[in-house]
Amino acid sequence: MNQVTQLAERFPRNFLFGAATAAYQIEGAATVDGRGPSIWDTFAHAGGNVVNDDSGDVACDHYNRWESDLDLIASMGLKAYRFSIAWPRVFPTGAGAANEAGLSFYDRLIDGCLQRNLKPYATLYHWDLPQALQDAGGWTNRATAMAFADYAQIIAERFGDRLETLVTFNEPWCSAYLGHLYGIHAPGLKDRGVAFATVHHQHLAHGLAVQAIKAAAPELPAGIVLNAQSIYPVTPADEDAAERHHAFHNGAFFDPLFNGQYPQALVDACANLLPKDWQSDLATIHQPLDFWGLNYYTPTRVSDKQGGTFPHSDTLEPQPGTVITDIGWEVFPQGLSDLLVELHRRYQLPPCYITENGACINDEPADGVVDDQRRISYVDGHLAAVADAIDAGVDVRGYFLWSLLDNFEWAEGYTMRFGAVHVDYDTQVRTIKQSGHWYSELVRAHAPAK
Ligand code: GCO
Repeated sequence: MNQVTQLAERFPRNFLFGAATAAYQIEGAATVDGRGPSIWDTFAHAGGNVVNDDSGDVACDHYNRWESDLDLIASMGLKAYRFSIAWPRVFPTGAGAANEAGLSFYDRLIDGCLQRNLKPYATLYHWDLPQALQDAGGWTNRATAMAFADYAQIIAERFGDRLETLVTFNEPWCSAYLGHLYGIHAPGLKDRGVAFATVHHQHLAHGLAVQAIKAAAPELPAGIVLNAQSIYPVTPADEDAAERHHAFHNGAFFDPLFNGQYPQALVDACANLLPKDWQSDLATIHQPLDFWGLNYYTPTRVSDKQGGTFPHSDTLEPQPGTVITDIGWEVFPQGLSDLLVELHRRYQLPPCYITENGACINDEPADGVVDDQRRISYVDGHLAAVADAIDAGVDVRGYFLWSLLDNFEWAEGYTMRFGAVHVDYDTQVRTIKQSGHWYSELVRAHAPAK
């Protein structure tokens, strides 16, 4: 039995293998059929925010190429496709009358999945907030949470009978902290108060949206996707810093969502930064969920850093000799299994999907072949880590490779490639990489075609 088959056989028979993308990163067609601008259109077009001033204007032209892209997924033998719905395609100004042309694109995409026996896993918010809502305060404005719940209701009513699951937010940590504290993602703000208002109002939006989804489509499983950090203290003296780091980066999300409260250390240090009357929202935020998704790429190594602001911790860059990907992230598969076990020790969690895992490997085609052996090694190691976590008792239901296609990698533009399929952005030609062929072999070995 070869190594791929051995790995495939470690997973339960009903385990699901798929691939993931996100609207702004692949769709293009930024002003087609009524789509309104998002904060990422504004951020990218402002200049100076994205490498080479790249934007999602064209991306992978998925809006026009969705049929051949779905054929590609099906040809690889995958069983599920995770994608996001662009809020500004459905509500060009974030609220008001829904845009039928936007809704019908996702009708076509979802029906196209079903026709190819691909389970459609949709995400409502993958960071593309309609600019009109940002102009009214964005996530610092409580009204944005209400608008999100209305958006969720329309999506659940329209697609709830065909979607496999519906996720409210992808990585609220990124949209809150990268976009409002560190300023490296849209809308490019750097303010702790704005960041905490965003954390809280995104949580509120999530809770209201889950209520709206359950009212519109009671049978549709609802969840959220979180990029928890797999935290390791650099030395034993850094244990307390690591726990503070967990509170600020993981607990600020997991605690309200799964325990109905913020971490005490965070409240003690930052309660003044949360919106007024935040306590009264906790019950709404703490909605029962049918599943949750974990996005994992790399570990976080933490050291103490007294002074400055909470959580008084520093993260250590990969040390010389550490295996890293082309975006500079440490490769450490054990970080995934350790994280899954640790989170399930800390929280009562519903079943889990690995909703994103993959590697930035920038290999280019040579004679029509992309021989990305490093990506194969990365995915092989991380799938083994998922199997280890399952063996340890963690209820993991599926794995979505990030990403199906090379795509717009946010502030890195098109310079960083995460796809199992190479995209030539000049010609839009897709080339399945060796890793894509390897993944396809694994999925077929796991569930031989009927
Ligand atoms: C994320 C996003 C993806 C990224 C991927 C690589 O998890 O950050 O969901 O859009 O492209 O993670 O950074």
